[in-house]
Amino acid sequence: MPQPHLRTVVVLAAGEGKRMKSALPKVLHPLLGRTLLGHVLTAAAPLAADRTVVVVGHGAERVRAHLSEIAPDATPVLQAQQLGTGHAVRIALEAVPEASGTVVVINGDVPLLRAETVAALVAAHEGEGAAATVLAAEVPDPTGLGRIVRDAAGRLEQIVEERDATPAQRALREINAGIYAFDVARLRDALGKLSTDNDQGEEYLTDVFGLLGSAGEPVAVHVAADHTETLGCNDRVELAGLRKLLRDRVNAAWMRTGVSILDPDTTWIDVTATVERDAVIDQNTQLRGSTVVGAEAVVGPDVTLIDTVVGAAATVLRSHAVGAEVGPGASVGPYAYLRPAARLAEKAKVGTFVEVKNSEVGAGAKVPHLSYVGDATIGAKANIGAATIFVNYDGVDKHRTTVGEAAFVGCDTSLIAPVEVGAGAYVAAGSAITQDVPPGALGVTRAPQRNIQGWVARRRAGTASAAAAERAQRGAEGASGAAAAASEGEPIHEGTETVGGPSRTGDTATE
Ligand code: UD1
Ligand code: MG
Repeated sequence: MPQPHLRTVVVLAAGEGKRMKSALPKVLHPLLGRTLLGHVLTAAAPLAADRTVVVVGHGAERVRAHLSEIAPDATPVLQAQQLGTGHAVRIALEAVPEASGTVVVINGDVPLLRAETVAALVAAHEGEGAAATVLAAEVPDPTGLGRIVRDAAGRLEQIVEERDATPAQRALREINAGIYAFDVARLRDALGKLSTDNDQGEEYLTDVFGLLGSAGEPVAVHVAADHTETLGCNDRVELAGLRKLLRDRVNAAWMRTGVSILDPDTTWIDVTATVERDAVIDQNTQLRGSTVVGAEAVVGPDVTLIDTVVGAAATVLRSHAVGAEVGPGASVGPYAYLRPAARLAEKAKVGTFVEVKNSEVGAGAKVPHLSYVGDATIGAKANIGAATIFVNYDGVDKHRTTVGEAAFVGCDTSLIAPVEVGAGAYVAAGSAITQDVPPGALGVTRAPQRNIQGWVARRRAGTASAAAAERAQRGAEGASGAAAAASEGEPIHEGTETVGGPSRTGDTATE
């Protein structure tokens, strides 16, 4: 029967990570949706420890601030000087005098560690009643890592750091992953006996195994099934390698749930994103943060979605979205930019070179080309013509524009907020709208058109334009008398005012 215990997790995160060559503490570097530290804490979370202690040192303030966001229940403990992993654990345990039973210790720089592996380590450790159990792995290249030294019977004898190892020990490829389970009472006892008699003059946590073993306490090795889980991160080349491994793991998991990923090598899905069944993710796509892609949606190629929700069967093509919502069956792009609180209802369309911010685009409404939609509410089935600008900013404040259901806004229109275009209203192309347009009305602010007859012949004589105009006029004179008579009847002369009626504006809008 499992014994009741207060389980404790200690994460070691005080080191500088010198080889990262970074102002950012190593454990705060991001990796597909979480920091290195965030990944480690996530792997430990299912243990449901009573206490989680994080040893901080280098960049302590930033690490503490991050912890308060991602794991407010964790206790940061300061290790002012990095005197070794044994010293770090000793300080951590001082903060949890009540701890009993099992303590799990995890290096803060092993982000690919899986929760199942930590759970299996703890189960093996508690099952065997060991004083200490180390997670080990057989790796192709053990350079720089502590080696697992076993006796002739295969029992753990000691863990030796590479720099303290004999040539024979260096040849071993079974390494210490930096993840352990200990009986806390026996760990405390052994930590009190650590020496600094090694190449770095540090207190090594790993020496606890030799100490306990030679005192006759049972020490054990638990071998990880997948050695990639134990890979640490010491420089940015390793970080990039871990990123690829995690990408492949995440992509494989989504494909197994029924998601199509057309080019897994160029698809980067944060561990925090979700993709539903039969979604298709085309190449060169990033799904970041809390992004959700709905069933049968098609996303990509060349799409970045950050904290964005894409509804079922929507399509997003060559676009960038942050904090946006794309409704079911909606269509985005190519080349759209959705900014925070852009909300597209069902079957809405936001097309090419369109930017949308803090706006609702109603069900079935269309903003097909070259527009800016800021601080707007666009009703269902409205059509916003090409190059419409929702002028939301007066230099001091932002204002909202409302376009009613099934309204029709002609091309190259400025809607100068605050303003409302009523349901079913039309706005003539090229208008600058500053007053509300009532439902069903046509709003038009265009300057009257003047045609100055014969201007090209007078002012641009001898040009290709003048020659073309002359040919056209000769052709027209040669045409039937009836047609000529009709053309004379046109009220288009210098100084004559004409206003485009609905039939004319309809011509100039786009679909
Ligand atoms: C350590 C192990 C090594 C193992 C390797 C796995 C020891 C002595 N060696 O070596 O056997 O193969 O991890 O990656 O433990 N830290 C502190 N305070 C300190 C020193 C370190 O918090 O005073 C933290 C670091 O931030 C890091 C972790 O402990 O997260 C491991 O430290 P690191 O210096 O990377 O140890 P390694 O040399 O990699
Ligand atoms: Mg390390």
